[in-house]
Amino acid sequence: MRSRPIGVFDSGLGGVSVLRNMSALLPKEDFIYFGDDKNAPYGTKSEEEILRLAIDDTSFLLQKNVKAIVIACNTATSAAANHLRETLSVPVIGMEPALKPASLNRKEGVIGVMATPATLKQKKFRLLYEKYGDHAMPIPCPGLMEFAEKGILSGEEIDVFLNKLLAPYRKYPLESVVLGCTHYVFLKAAISKALPGVILYDGNDGTARQLKRVLEEKNWLKETGEGSVSMYTSGDESHILPLMWSLFREKIL
Ligand code: DGL
Repeated sequence: MRSRPIGVFDSGLGGVSVLRNMSALLPKEDFIYFGDDKNAPYGTKSEEEILRLAIDDTSFLLQKNVKAIVIACNTATSAAANHLRETLSVPVIGMEPALKPASLNRKEGVIGVMATPATLKQKKFRLLYEKYGDHAMPIPCPGLMEFAEKGILSGEEIDVFLNKLLAPYRKYPLESVVLGCTHYVFLKAAISKALPGVILYDGNDGTARQLKRVLEEKNWLKETGEGSVSMYTSGDESHILPLMWSLFREKIL
């Protein structure tokens, strides 16, 4: 079991931001990444549709004989994690917006939670919000992940988009913002520019640590040899794969 790879998927290339944290923390592991770019975005689809797509993504990875599945996508976790945990024999690690750490570290301002409309609508987020959402405000961001998908991480087009998206929230004393979608981690610089002085949280490191804990508990950590990363996409390989690799290697703020 130890020598088998770890399967990671997202609706597109956003999960590559999580993959970076995981391969840095577990450098001896082999990772297989699948981005369902052809069907992206997931965040504006129905729960049933996202579940169906997540099942297909998982089947692709299971064919590669993975020892664990990481859903590197908040949207797909909300729609599919329970179902996958009930039906698969390998462990399933999911993600949720990092509202808990943002709320535990809050001093006096408001916490914005930027995520896809689907993530914010689903039960998983409602439960999280009931627990840690006293001073939080959901900020649905339809259309934002598309910038990362196209490799547009900065520039006038995204600045204009973000300023318009965030305009209604400027009246609140925003102290921090949770990046509740793995694509947004690649847009940190543009988001910081639109929200100067606001602290940004994401769940990537927590997810990597959770993966390590789960493998440790099972005694499935690969402890010898060098690790590797392979990437696959359902989209246009000649365009997406080079973008995924350059994002994998890029330094994020
Ligand atoms: N990267 C995904 C997430 O973490 C969703 C993006 C999308 O497909 O809408 O929520």
